[in-house]
Amino acid sequence: MERTFVMLKPDAVQRGLIGEILARIEAKGFKPVAMKFMRIPKELAERHYGEHKGKPFFPGLIEYMTSGPVLVMVWEGENIIAAMRTMMGATNPQNAAVGTIRGDFAQQTGRNLIHGSDGPESARREIELFFNDYELQNWSRSLDPWYIE
Ligand code: RTP
Ligand code: MG
Repeated sequence: MERTFVMLKPDAVQRGLIGEILARIEAKGFKPVAMKFMRIPKELAERHYGEHKGKPFFPGLIEYMTSGPVLVMVWEGENIIAAMRTMMGATNPQNAAVGTIRGDFAQQTGRNLIHGSDGPESARREIELFFNDYELQNWSRSLDPWYIE
C-alpha cells in the first residue's frame, strides 16, 4: 500500500480548517500513519522545499511555512500520492477545481493551505525528513476490507 506525506500549512491551522480537511481525507478511507503538530525550523523548511531554492517566490514561501504551527502527516492508501494531489487541487487555487481543497477554500498560490508529495521519490524523502521510524504506525482496521477488496 502506498504512503504519502501531507502537511496542513500555517494558513489552514490559523483559519481553523484542520477538522474540515482531515474529514475529507478520512472519509475517502485513507488510513493515518503519523501526525505531528509542530513549528517548522527554517532549515527544515528550506530542505523540504529545496527544489525551489533560488526561485523568486522562495523567501516568501519559507517565511509563510515557518510563520506558525503546521500539521505534518503520513497517510496510506491505494494510489494515494496521485489521489491526494487530485483532492488538493491545482497549486494556484484560481485553477483548482471546485470540490478540491484548494478550489473550495483558497484564493492564492501563496496561501494554498496544503502540501502533498508529488511522487514516490519525494514521498519517501519527505516522510524521512519529518518522521522517525518509531513515529510511523503500522496498524490494521477492521473496516479495511470495505475500502480495499
Ligand atoms: P506543494 O509542494 O506545497 O504541495 O505545492 P505544489 O507541489 O502544488 O506546488 P510547487 O510548485 O511544489 O510549489 C510549492 C509551493 O510554493 C508556493 N509557490 N508560490 N508565487 C508563486 O509563484 C509560487 N509558486 C509556488 C506555493 O505555496 C506552492 O504550494
Ligand atoms: Mg510541490
